[in-house]
Parts: sequence; structure tokens; C-alpha cells
Amino acid sequence: MIPSGHMQTLTSTLQIKTLQSPTTSSRKTAQTPLQIPLSMHPIHKNITETKSQKESYNINGPFCLGIESTADDFSVGILSFDGEVLANVISAYVPEEGGIHPREAARHHTRVAGKVLREAFQRSGIKPQDILVVAFSQGPGLGPCLRTGATAARALASYLQTPLVGVNHCVAHIEIGKLITGARDPLTLYVSGGNTIVSAFEAGRYRVFGETLDIAVGNCLDVFAREAGLRQKKEALGAMVEQLASRGRVFAPLPYTVKGMDLSFSGLLTAAVQLLHEQKLHLEDLCFSLQEVVFSMLTEVTERALAHTEKPEILLTGGVAANKRLQSMLSVIAEEHDARFCVAPKEYVLDNGAMIAWTGILAYQHNITVPVEKSLVKLKWRLDEVYAPWAEG
Ligand code: FE2
Repeated sequence: MIPSGHMQTLTSTLQIKTLQSPTTSSRKTAQTPLQIPLSMHPIHKNITETKSQKESYNINGPFCLGIESTADDFSVGILSFDGEVLANVISAYVPEEGGIHPREAARHHTRVAGKVLREAFQRSGIKPQDILVVAFSQGPGLGPCLRTGATAARALASYLQTPLVGVNHCVAHIEIGKLITGARDPLTLYVSGGNTIVSAFEAGRYRVFGETLDIAVGNCLDVFAREAGLRQKKEALGAMVEQLASRGRVFAPLPYTVKGMDLSFSGLLTAAVQLLHEQKLHLEDLCFSLQEVVFSMLTEVTERALAHTEKPEILLTGGVAANKRLQSMLSVIAEEHDARFCVAPKEYVLDNGAMIAWTGILAYQHNITVPVEKSLVKLKWRLDEVYAPWAEG
């Protein structure tokens, strides 16, 4: 439990840091400083958490706090340096209409930041002064969302006088997947609304073996779902498509576009939407066809990368990783290549603060930190630009 006086001081610090943010773009967000007074917060939607209550562990510090805010989720994770997850609180922004509007999502993050932070501390059972390192998702992602999380992290690190670590969001998905599933050196398929990447570690970095040439696979499924009139409520759009697809029986051919090791989904999406508007097929059959084509493309590229790298595991991560049909296709190729198929529980494949905290710990242990004045966010920060010495075998 954070003493209320302590939290109030944190609140003031967060507001001050927002106004002093060093980037030109983040100065724009200074008009809406983080609103931390917790008693005034509306209840935020869809907060989840994993292991909580320090009583259930016998854990000693040090601890790292990680802040994730690249897109529609604002999340705070707290981990011990030996990899125990003490808290992983996620608050999801759900747009009323259409896709994610970056400024609206950032406004959501600003609104819930204080509550999510407080809840993470409460669940972890530790005090702010027990935190040794603060980590944040520095990129890639949506500018306004990234800057909101970065501002909170800078303020917290300055107030607690801890080192700050800027974490690459894509690397973090891989590292938390390895931690939770026990994978040592996987070939990773990272599939979400913003990313579609096949990667594996080689010579100091996670290398990209294949990626989308246009939209991400999760975006393709979400746009199709919205065109079909589906609306996100409790369930994600991708989960609704999956349910409909499970009842589909008729396969409609759609453009299958694999170019070398890269993939393209935009033409396929256009064709699927055209078929939808023609109304000659049941929605279940269209969802079934869309999933079969999209996941076959992903599986083909993943299998080729697996055959080339001979990695011992396939790790599936990102929001689309929860899809059972994709999991089953990848399990088959894993078995054929004597590899282990690994996928973490949902709260660790979605965007989450725990993955940022864990990667922050790995980087900190290799003396990789960033001064506050150089901690600008990197909207297009590629996975293969990150030096990852901790992943060396
Ligand atoms: Fe992600």
C-alpha cells in the first residue's frame, strides 16, 4: 500500500515532468498533464492482473517497474530480478467507433496512469522505494501513446532516483515469452494489430527473417470484422472472427501473397471485403477462408525460417497468438521439425507491463540504461536495431 502522502508527491512529480518533457511533440501533450488524483478517477475498463499479493511468494528485491503504452493498452508490471511477476495490471482503451485514434488512446492512458500505477503497487505488496529500475516502452508505436508512458516513466525514475531503461516493445514480447514458457532460443512469430514479424536471435541481435510489407495481420482481421458490422465489447474483434470461422465450412479462394520471406495482407483484405459486400457467402465461411489463407501465409514463412535456422522452439506471441487455429497450424510444423511449440497465457502475449519490466531487468544487468534527457521515444524503432547481449547463448 502506498502511503497517500507518498502518492500525492508522485502525482506532483508526474505533472511537473509532463510539463518539462524534452521533446517538441511531447510539449504538445503538456496541455493535458497526467491526472493522477486517484479519488477522482473514473473506473477504467478491463483491468486484469496475474500473480499478485506478495504473501503468495517468498520474494526479495530488487524489483523493476515497467510501463507499456505503445498503442491501446496502458499497463504497469512489477517483477523481481529473478523473474517473478508481482503485478501485471492492464487497462485497455476501447474506441467507441472505428480503429485506434492515437490522441484518444493517449488521453485514456493519461486518465488511467495513476490508478494503474497505484493498483500495481497494491498488488505487488512492495513500496515505490523498493523499485531499483524503471523501464518503459520506448518504441515502436503511436507517438502520443508512447510519449504518455515515457513521461510517467521519466517522472517516476526522477522521483525515485532510479536508472531508466528504454525498452523495444518487440524485443519485450520475445523476452517475456521466453521467461514464461521456458523457451531458450526460439524462432518467434510476433503477430498483432501493429506488427507481423518472424525473428530469431543471431550474433547479438534478434534478426528479422520475414515481416509484413503493408498492414499487420491483426489489423487485417480487425478491419474485416468492422466491415462485417462486428463491434468490440468484452471480446476482441479477432476473437469474434475466430468464433465465426470455427463454424465456416465453405472455402472461398483469396489472394495468397508471400514475397520471398515477406507477406502482404492489404490485397487479401480488399478481396475479402469485396466478397463480404457481394453477400454471396455466409459470414462464417468468409471468416473461415480469411483465417485459413492468412494463417497459412504466416505458417509458410515461419516454417521456412525454422528450417533455415534450426531453432529448437517456435514461440508465438502478440494479440493474434491467442487464436487456436493459428496455434494448431504452428504446432504441426513444430512437430515436423522436432521443435517445441511455445505460447504464453493471454496476459503475456497481449501488450503488458510485465514484458517491459522483465526486458528492463535484462538490459539493466548489462549496464544498458538511458539518461532522462536522451529518452526520446522512437516511433519506428526496429527489432533488429537493438543490441541484446543478454540473449547470447
Ligand atoms: Fe505488441
